[in-house]
Amino acid sequence: RSEETQTEDYLFKIVLIGDSAVGKSNLLARFARDEFYPNSKSTIGVEFQTQKLDINGKEVKAQIWDTAGQERFRAVTSAYYRGAVGALLVYDISRRLTFENIGRWLNELQTHSDMNVVTILVGNKSDLKDAREVTTAEGKSLAEAQGLFFIETSALDSSNVTAAFQTVVKEIY
Ligand code: GTP
Ligand code: MG
Repeated sequence: RSEETQTEDYLFKIVLIGDSAVGKSNLLARFARDEFYPNSKSTIGVEFQTQKLDINGKEVKAQIWDTAGQERFRAVTSAYYRGAVGALLVYDISRRLTFENIGRWLNELQTHSDMNVVTILVGNKSDLKDAREVTTAEGKSLAEAQGLFFIETSALDSSNVTAAFQTVVKEIY
């Protein structure tokens, strides 16, 4: 069986969700292209990138979808979630409100996707140490209560970005 057929078997759709400006698009840019945009604009509509991952020596392709956190810029919700097998639920550790809104995002995810979509709670902007408004323990505890994986990342300094995507893909696979 050809290499091409084999990789097609492992194309996983993963969605990024969370409030506006938590860093969804920059997590994707860092992961897929090793880029960071200090002044990125809000995403309009939907964008996606396909990225290869190495999972236990096997090549796995993740198709990662990114849309706006703000309602008025968002893609059609049902289409966005359709077929997703993984989700990164992102908040900004320096803005408490984005953490408080996680419940709403989780609700939307559960309403529109399969029961068993592998989900990781991601506390982004871990580089902003002096501006932190959500402790690591709080993130962990919410994740545990909701049965989610948990990680803190920084798209700016790259920490844990690959690990965040890898955790989800590994579990799906
Ligand atoms: P929407 O598309 O509006 O939903 O926003 P988003 O979640 O895609 O956020 P985006 O990636 O556009 O980032 C928003 C702002 O936060 C930008 O100015 C980024 O440069 C900044 N940012 C993103 N990630 C990090 C990070 O890890 N650390 C720091 N310090 N800033 C970040
Ligand atoms: Mg965006």
